[in-house]
Amino acid sequence: MTSLTPKFPHLLHGGDYNPDQWLDRPDILEQDIALMKEAHINCVSLGIFAWAKLEPQEGMYQLDWLEQIIQTLYENGVYTVLATPSGAKPRWMSEKYPEIRRVTAAGQRELSGGRHNHCYTSPVYREKVRAVNTVLAQRFAKHPGVILWHLSNEYGGECRCELCQAAFREWLKKKYGSLEALNKQWWTDFWSQTFNSWEEIHAPAPRGPWGNAEPVHGLSLDWKRFVTDQVADFIAAEGNAVKAADPSIPVTANLMYDFYYYNYFKFKDLLDVVSWDAYPQWKGTGEDIATAADFALWHDVMRSLKKQPFLLMESTPSVINWGPVSRLKRPGMHLASSMQAVGHGADSVQYFQFRKSRGATEKFHGAVVDHCGHSGTREFRDVEQVGRRLQQLDEAICGSQVKPEVALVFDTENRWAVETAAGPRNCGIHYAEDVRAHYRALWRMGVPVDIVDEECGIGGYKLVIAPMLYLLRAGFAEKLRAFVEAGGVLVGTYHTGLVNENDLCHLGGWPGEGLGEVFGLWHEATDGLWDGESNCILLDGKSYPVTELCALIHAKGAQVLGTYGRDFYQGEPALTVNAYGAGQAYYLAARAGADFYRDFYSGLTEKLACKRALPAPPPEGVEACLREKNGESYVFLQNFSGEAQSVPLPEGCVDMASGQAIATAELAAYDSVVIKRG
Ligand code: GLA
Ligand code: ZN
Repeated sequence: MTSLTPKFPHLLHGGDYNPDQWLDRPDILEQDIALMKEAHINCVSLGIFAWAKLEPQEGMYQLDWLEQIIQTLYENGVYTVLATPSGAKPRWMSEKYPEIRRVTAAGQRELSGGRHNHCYTSPVYREKVRAVNTVLAQRFAKHPGVILWHLSNEYGGECRCELCQAAFREWLKKKYGSLEALNKQWWTDFWSQTFNSWEEIHAPAPRGPWGNAEPVHGLSLDWKRFVTDQVADFIAAEGNAVKAADPSIPVTANLMYDFYYYNYFKFKDLLDVVSWDAYPQWKGTGEDIATAADFALWHDVMRSLKKQPFLLMESTPSVINWGPVSRLKRPGMHLASSMQAVGHGADSVQYFQFRKSRGATEKFHGAVVDHCGHSGTREFRDVEQVGRRLQQLDEAICGSQVKPEVALVFDTENRWAVETAAGPRNCGIHYAEDVRAHYRALWRMGVPVDIVDEECGIGGYKLVIAPMLYLLRAGFAEKLRAFVEAGGVLVGTYHTGLVNENDLCHLGGWPGEGLGEVFGLWHEATDGLWDGESNCILLDGKSYPVTELCALIHAKGAQVLGTYGRDFYQGEPALTVNAYGAGQAYYLAARAGADFYRDFYSGLTEKLACKRALPAPPPEGVEACLREKNGESYVFLQNFSGEAQSVPLPEGCVDMASGQAIATAELAAYDSVVIKRG
C-alpha cells in the first residue's frame, strides 16, 4: 500500500470547506481558490453539513452548485474529500419524521435542531441517508477530483427510542439464545432482577431519586456493545451506498479523541482509511508535555486500528472555541502539533475549517482564513509553513509506515467494565490514566508503540504491555499465554483477569483463565488506598512510591523482584517475573508512578533491544517518532518543552528540509525537524 487515496497519492493538506454557506458570494469563493493555492492546500472536505442545500425539499436534490465547486477546485489542483451529509439532518426532515430524532435516557424525544443527534435505528432515517448518499455517489464518485468519502461526521451518542430498544432485544436474543442463559450471565438472581420475558429488558437508565446506576453490569456492558454494533451497521450501510457507484473510492469516518462510548476497534474493517479530529488544548506551559504525550497516544491508537497510515482530518490552525478558555497557539506550536501527527503516521494535516463562518456557533473557532478575508494573519502563515513542509516530505513520507515492536493493550470493553464495577476505588479507578502512564514512559524514550485491543493479534511483538486487564474477552488469555510461551515478554498488573466478558467473576483464583500460571502467582486481594496515601516498592536498592491500588499476591513459581515497603503486607511481593515457555511474564502488583515506569521500561526495552527512533532518549519534552519506507528510516523530532533543545544524532543523518548532513538537531521551542537516519 503506497497511498490512502490512490487517485491522488500524496500527503494531504487542507480541511473542511463549507462553500454552501457562501453561495451568494461568488467573489469570496473565487478568493478562496487563490488563498488555497497560497497556503499550499491540495484538498478540501466538502458537504459535511450541506444536506439542507443538497435536498432543500424532500426528494428534490440540487447538486449543480456542488458540481461546480468540485470542478473549479479540481481545475485548480485541489482535490475533494466528499462527505455524506448524515451528521446533520435538515430541519424539514426532523419535523416531518419525529422518529429520526433521539430519545433521551429519561425517555423524552428531542426537539428538532442541532447535529449528530439522529437515531441510528430509524428505518426512515436510514432510507433518507441511503437515498442522498446514492444520489451523491452516482453523480460524483467518478469525478477525477473526488478521492475519498468522508462518511457523516464524528459518529457519536445513542438513542433509547422504542425502535432502538426493540433492536437491542433482538441483539440480545442473538447473543444469548435464551432468557435463561441471559439471566445466568447477568447474574440477575441478585436483587430479584430476573427477566421473565424479552419485553422486560430496557436500555440501562438512571433510576430513583439519586439516579442510581444500573446494578446489572452485564446489561450495561451489552447495551454499550449493542450501541457500537448499531452504529457499525449504520456506517456499513453508508459505505455500501457510496461504494455501489464506484467501489474503488475509499471510505473514511472522522473519529474523536478519547472517545470510548463506542468501541472504535469494531469499526476498523468498515473503513478503508481511519481519520480523526485532534484538538489538543495547548497552554504554553509545562503542561504541554503531558498534552503532547496524550495526543501521541491517540495518534497511535488511530494508526494502530488498521496498522497503516491515517489522516488527521481536523485540527485547528489556531484556537478552538469550545473550551473554557482558548489560548492562541504559541509561535511554532502549529508546526510541532501538525508534525507530531505526521510523525505518528498521519498522511495529512487537515483543518476545521478553511474559511471561518460568519455566523452561528463556530464563528470564533480558528480557521485558515479569518473574517478579515486575507492571508496576512499569523495563523495563515503557520498553515502555509506546514503546507510547504508537507510538500518537501511528500515523496519520502507518504505511505511510510510505523512498525513498533511493542504493543500496549488499551481495550475499550475492559474500560467500560473497569469503570462500571464497584470495587476497591470508586473515587477513581483510573484505567485510562494508568495506560497513559505506561505509554508515556515509552514515548519519552522514543520507542514506537502500537495500541491493540483484546481482539487484535499480538504475535509479532517483542513486548506486550497489558495494564489492568480486568475483563478477559473470550480467547485473549489464550493469546497472551501462547505469546509468552513462544518467547514474548508480557507485562501485566494488579486488577487483571478478574471477570469474564459479561462481568462474571472468575472462580478458582485470580488472574483467571490460566493467566495465574503464566504469571506464576495468585492474586488474593486488593487494598484500595485513599488519595494522598501511598506505599512503596523496594527494588534494586531503590524505593518507588505506589498509590491507589495495591494487590496482595502470592508467588507460585514467579521470581520476586520487588517487595512492598510498608503496611501489614511489608515484604510481600510487589513485582515479579515468571519464566513461562520460551518467554517471561512480569507482574506489577501496585500502581506505580512515572519514576518507576521510566526505570522499568528503560531497562526492559534495552534488554529486549526494542526498536527506537534514536539510540538515546531525547531531552525531556522532545518526542522522537520513527517512520519507515523502502528501507529508509525517518525520525520526526518535535520540541514541546517550551525551550530550545539540542538533540545529538547518530552518524550519517540528513536534514530533510535542507538535504544537508546533520550531527545535532537544534530545535527552537515548538520546532520540528525531520531527519533521514544514517
Ligand atoms: C469537530 C467537528 C467540526 C467542528 C470542530 C470544532 O471536530 O467535526 O464540525 O465542530 O469540532 O472544533
Ligand atoms: Zn432510536
